[in-house]
Amino acid sequence: MSEQIARGTVRTTRSDVLLASAGERGVLCGIYDEDAADTYHDLMQDADGTSEAREFANRVDPGSGPVLELAAGTGRVTFPFLALGFEVAALELSTAMIATLRKGLEDLPPEVRDRCTVVHGDMTAFALEERFETVIVSSGSINVLDDADRPGLYASVREHLAPGGRFLLAVAVAEAVKPDSPERQQELSGLSGRRYVLHAKMLAGEEIHEITICPADEAADPFVVCTNRIRLLKADQIVRELEQAGFRVTGRTPFASAGQGSEDVLLLEASL
Ligand SMILES: C[S@@+](CC[C@H](N)C(=O)[O-])C[C@H]1O[C@@H](n2cnc3c(N)ncnc32)[C@H](O)[C@@H]1O
Repeated sequence: MSEQIARGTVRTTRSDVLLASAGERGVLCGIYDEDAADTYHDLMQDADGTSEAREFANRVDPGSGPVLELAAGTGRVTFPFLALGFEVAALELSTAMIATLRKGLEDLPPEVRDRCTVVHGDMTAFALEERFETVIVSSGSINVLDDADRPGLYASVREHLAPGGRFLLAVAVAEAVKPDSPERQQELSGLSGRRYVLHAKMLAGEEIHEITICPADEAADPFVVCTNRIRLLKADQIVRELEQAGFRVTGRTPFASAGQGSEDVLLLEASL
């Protein structure tokens, strides 16, 4: 299991300060937990995975059976993939994320919804009966795994690839690391109109971003403080790790996650 989830919710320096001033109104939760579901949904509802899904889909033979999507979350990439006509087995660890994913599926016509199987599981240690021609991980998802967890991901994917199958992994292009940079603050607006403050701090000596999100309204009750740790991983490091795990990396294609603008994601293609 991912260490972050196994260890429980991450406490950040900023979350300690915020919770101390919120007193009994304060609630600390991981960004993928149930208590964060409203915040996550409000901020992410219009996150569009269509371009990313197309990049994956261009590399999948439509007749090759279900695609295994790891860390599917609330379905940012799953839904466009289904819309493109594919069958998807969507694996996710967080029950809160799964609940939102299932709710979204209920709104689809049965012939589309029935092409998706939702699996509660840990991408670093799962055992399914089926083997897949394609396993995908969308951008940002490998960044939730610690160094100690990623070998489990690669081993589990190896076990689930059909002969000749492909592992497609989207890796966000890592920002330059400035270890002693001050905490960055940014105000965000949710779809509901509610405002939030995002605090992002680079941990000194580690390539980890600590994220804390809280309501902009200091009097909010409950005052939900969501935290997360994101590892800044360079594509070269992932390529090395994949090769050490016995994969051949056969493609590295940059693309723009927004469909246009800067190429901020690299799609790695690997096979055994
Ligand atoms: C950055 S989000 C991406 C979600 C979705 N793929 C997307 O593109 O919106 C990372 C997801 O990984 C999930 N996650 C974290 N650790 C996991 C694990 N060990 N196994 C499966 N999912 C995990 C989180 O709950 C979250 O939904």
